[in-house]
Amino acid sequence: MPTFRGRGQHSVHNQTVAIQIFDKEASTFTGDLLVYPVEEDVPHCGETGATINRLLAQVRETGDFKGGKDQVFLFYPGLMGGEKDQVIPAKRVLFAGLGKQDESINVRREQLRLVGGTIAKQAATIKAKEVLVVLPKDYLLDAVEIAECMSEGLLLGNYRFDLYKKPKEEDAPGRVERFFLHDGGLAASAVRTGMERGQAVACATCAARDMANQPGNGWTPAEFAEYAKKLGKKTRLKCKVLDKGDLQKLHMGGILGVNQGSALPPFLVSLEYKNDKKLPTILLVGKGLTFDSGGICAKPPAGMEDMKYDMCGGAAVLAAMQAIAEIGLEGVNVIGLVPATENLSGSAALKPGDVIRHYGGKTSEIINTDAEGRLILADALAYGIDVYKPQAVIDVATLTGAVIIGLGHHYTGLLSNNDQLAAQLTEAGAQVGEPLWRLPLGPEYRKQIDSRVADIKNAGSDRSGGTITAACYLQEFVGDTPWAHLDIAGTAWDFTEKSYIPKGPSGTGVRTLVACLRQWQPLKPVDKK
Ligand code: BES
Ligand code: ZN
Ligand code: ZN
Repeated sequence: MPTFRGRGQHSVHNQTVAIQIFDKEASTFTGDLLVYPVEEDVPHCGETGATINRLLAQVRETGDFKGGKDQVFLFYPGLMGGEKDQVIPAKRVLFAGLGKQDESINVRREQLRLVGGTIAKQAATIKAKEVLVVLPKDYLLDAVEIAECMSEGLLLGNYRFDLYKKPKEEDAPGRVERFFLHDGGLAASAVRTGMERGQAVACATCAARDMANQPGNGWTPAEFAEYAKKLGKKTRLKCKVLDKGDLQKLHMGGILGVNQGSALPPFLVSLEYKNDKKLPTILLVGKGLTFDSGGICAKPPAGMEDMKYDMCGGAAVLAAMQAIAEIGLEGVNVIGLVPATENLSGSAALKPGDVIRHYGGKTSEIINTDAEGRLILADALAYGIDVYKPQAVIDVATLTGAVIIGLGHHYTGLLSNNDQLAAQLTEAGAQVGEPLWRLPLGPEYRKQIDSRVADIKNAGSDRSGGTITAACYLQEFVGDTPWAHLDIAGTAWDFTEKSYIPKGPSGTGVRTLVACLRQWQPLKPVDKK
């Protein structure tokens, strides 16, 4: 069993969220809020006893609540009978709408996460501290998944970052301290398994959000290294940190080049989850750019503060490793690599026209110092493939503004040299509510990064196809290894607003990576024609 336990307190600023099984009758719950998720087409809410089902029928009759998506109905059972003969001792009861039954299994998963998020929001509004959710028994999904998706929705919806600004007591919404799940008649062991999985990925996702929410001076490359080392101590993951001296010895001119304008040293952080040598190894690489000013090709000041989020890919990879260590994986070994540095414009900074030499020897002409993500990823990809000989590589990065122009804030850009890998990731993203959209790659785009003075250049002469030319740059460093690139610039923050996705950093990528690795299908060799 993985040893990384402790329920949520691994988040950077120690937010303690917990979820546990409530194994007594739901009707004996005396806490702040008792919740029944209700489907629009199902007239009852499971094995909950006659009282609740009678109340639900009455509420439905009024027409005030049908169980529609986002619909809620809150009531106070204490006001209905006297204190003594009160049938439901909970302070409040909430009916929460799941919406109509849908044919698609992914829609049904998402409905549960959404209702979980809605419950967390409602609980916050009324400042409930202890919340019991009775799982819907007749919901058309495997019991493990019902508990898993509900737990994810509750914990992700309960997320808040207030390290630097404590909310004023009166007007601030509360925060649930303890969630309980009642199996509602589903198999108890399945519910426990699902709850534990959901909790592990939700806590890891919240940890990724915490890292991202930290300002540039609160989450530096050294913080990435420290966090990984802590994971190395607390879990079965093995952590290695390469410092500036190591990077120099390895000739990682991309990471070192980007780092030249910064006063803080760079790191290349690695975490290894090893099962068995015979199993395939999957390499994950995340862009850990803790602040991107653009360097000498400075970004405009308006909105530049958002570039503290340029490390979201790195956060997603560390957090995915954390979740993997907790849940455990059977079919694969996994390596997580995070190249971490700032991109600033100190007097030694990289300049347009400079030529750098990447790990492995390939040279690159710097056209735009703001196209720095590809420079640090190139070294990490080439090094990771060289050292770990993975069956596949997946990188996650806030790489281009162009992906926001193309896909907006609702889909992550996916680019890959392997159809099977692209399909596995697309399926995983669809399952967890983090949709991916594939863009093409090809020699016609690759031509845009031909350089007259070096092997390649780091930006095309015009901005056309910016997301694709960035991926072409990365592709130069993966050789024939099956590789997929997730451009999360549009989804790492300002992601599609949902009850369980907050306004700031979303933690996107963590759940997609974990789902993909949990269901890994070994890649078939590709016919080279
Ligand atoms: N970190 C940015 C990409 C980005 C932009 C992420 C907006 C999220 C929101 C990246 O390093 C960058 O600046 N890319 C340039 C590349 C260009 C100079 C070729 C871009 O997208 O403009
Ligand atoms: Zn940049
Ligand atoms: Zn960047």
